[in-house]
Amino acid sequence: NTRVLTGITTTGTPHLGNYVGAIRPAVEASRRDDVEAFFFLADYHALIKSDDAARIERSRLEIAATWLAAGLDPQRVTFYRQSDIPEIPELTWFLTCIASKGMLNRAHAYKAAVDKNAAAGEDADAGITAGLYMYPVLMAADILAFDANQVPVGRDQIQHIEMARDLGQRFNHLHGHEFFVLPEALIEEQVATLPGLDGRKMSKSYDNTIPLFAGGTKQLREAIMRIVTDSRAPGEPKDPDSSALFTIFRAFAGEAETAAFRQALLGGIGWGEAKQALYERIEADVAPMRERYEALMADPAAIEATLHQGAQKARAIATPKLAALREVLGLRAMT
Ligand code: TYM
Repeated sequence: NTRVLTGITTTGTPHLGNYVGAIRPAVEASRRDDVEAFFFLADYHALIKSDDAARIERSRLEIAATWLAAGLDPQRVTFYRQSDIPEIPELTWFLTCIASKGMLNRAHAYKAAVDKNAAAGEDADAGITAGLYMYPVLMAADILAFDANQVPVGRDQIQHIEMARDLGQRFNHLHGHEFFVLPEALIEEQVATLPGLDGRKMSKSYDNTIPLFAGGTKQLREAIMRIVTDSRAPGEPKDPDSSALFTIFRAFAGEAETAAFRQALLGGIGWGEAKQALYERIEADVAPMRERYEALMADPAAIEATLHQGAQKARAIATPKLAALREVLGLRAMT
């Protein structure tokens, strides 16, 4: 069996990028008979980015409801909240003790923060927490605790998966045994990075996201109408390959439909009309899920119960794994 695992940080409202980059491929993989799937809410990671408790709580509910609305079957999949699994911070510590500081210095998120400080003429580490610095180690623990083979993610997470591999490999090497499975990133090539309203990567931090469900169909349409386009008028041919609108369309359409949309753009369809077509394409996929989402959001207690059950399933795997690691490390006698 292949183990597939992925998580989403509970700091924001799920957007189209999360859906096509991680949620959709993960849910598809979880339906295969040879796959054991582990999907979770990365709420310890959320604390690195936010100290706004109300926001984290809201986001937890939204992300959990999104997973379920997108077709995750909690009977079939292990679906849990990271902070319900105390083995994860314990493993984080074990990995911290073998993680090289040099590797963490190279992590993109940390480097970006350092570069931003430099540009502002600040001290290199001004305002940077040890939590941000340790982010990749916590993520490695998420993955290694469950011996995941494949991790469906967007391209922005590849470096983190490589670091998880490095740490697993280092541990295996030090202790002379295959204790950890070495994970691989699973990237949807078509949509590896979904662009946002302004053409940059769709991201909470750029404030350029299109929400998947929040705000309903009206907000979806309004957001799509705000996608930045060039100034070519109706009748003038448009270049699909430089258009965020086209890239987003392609992420939601089959080959034939994508080819037809490409022809329409080359043939000079107006941007307004193109946006309407994009809205209709996405809405066709999203509408039935949105209905489930709204029902789920209305019943937080049911979501809690589902997460609680998931945590029990997850711990049935993580608890013996950590017990074995304590022995290997000399913290407990070998049984
Ligand atoms: P997060 O919460 O930033 O994003 C969740 C997932 O959505 C993907 N994604 C995108 N994919 C395509 N195009 C985009 N514009 C786009 N924006 C976001 C991300 O790549 C990610 O797959 N560190 C992770 C959460 C995490 C995790 C893990 C993931 C914690 N532990 C273990 C996998 C395995 C994060 O912050 O993702």
